[in-house]
Amino acid sequence: MTEQIHLTIDQQPVTTGAGTTILKAAQENGIEIPTICFHDSCTANALCRICVVEVTGARTLIPSCVAKVSEGMVVETQSERVRLSRKTILEMMASTTDLSQSPEIIAMFAEYDVEEDRFPDATPRHPEIIDDNSMFIRDYAKCILCWRCVQVCATDAQYAFAINFKERGYNTQISTFFEIPLPETTCVFCGQCIGVCPTNALKPKKEWLLEQGMEPETIMSLTRQERRKRGR
Ligand code: SF4
Ligand code: FES
Repeated sequence: MTEQIHLTIDQQPVTTGAGTTILKAAQENGIEIPTICFHDSCTANALCRICVVEVTGARTLIPSCVAKVSEGMVVETQSERVRLSRKTILEMMASTTDLSQSPEIIAMFAEYDVEEDRFPDATPRHPEIIDDNSMFIRDYAKCILCWRCVQVCATDAQYAFAINFKERGYNTQISTFFEIPLPETTCVFCGQCIGVCPTNALKPKKEWLLEQGMEPETIMSLTRQERRKRGR
């Protein structure tokens, strides 16, 4: 039988199995902690830090999507320090990234009194849209580097290893190896990366063409031409 751990979350006594994350323990007890990079089907790696909580005795705020519960732990999910941290993370994201098609993130703005123009000197990222295949486009101006697409393309699902990151720091971007076009990589166009992307940085080509004002008939004719070219 799994060892049982006793802790408190937001003054509420909680009992859960050893090895459970603080995030899951909170969810089991109806306490919602916001997440962005976390996805149930991906390995959690604590990249965005929106899920941080305050743990009594800990020097820093703790990312609840990876931190495990321990006996006697006292957790606060909505302390002033936690809320300020979440607000700042959202403001930094808004200052560099196009979040216009990220409804779940935008929904957090009101909750945390986000000032979208708090960092007016920040330089937004504006890489060009990559349109190198007939299935989907990649608009990395909308990418928050949550890493989910890389993970499902690798050992979390598809084992294709078609994408990874390029460059460092501010210039970090998801890319193919040596930046070659996707059709020349090991990509099998399974679409799992599109499914887990929280910001619409990865978008089905048809949807994108419709947004660009192209008529459905024209899109269908392009699709037929593309199929003929591929002999299907
Ligand atoms: S493209 Fe989407 S899924 Fe991939 S890292 Fe960027 S935001 Fe995350
Ligand atoms: S949701 Fe936990 S660090 Fe992103």
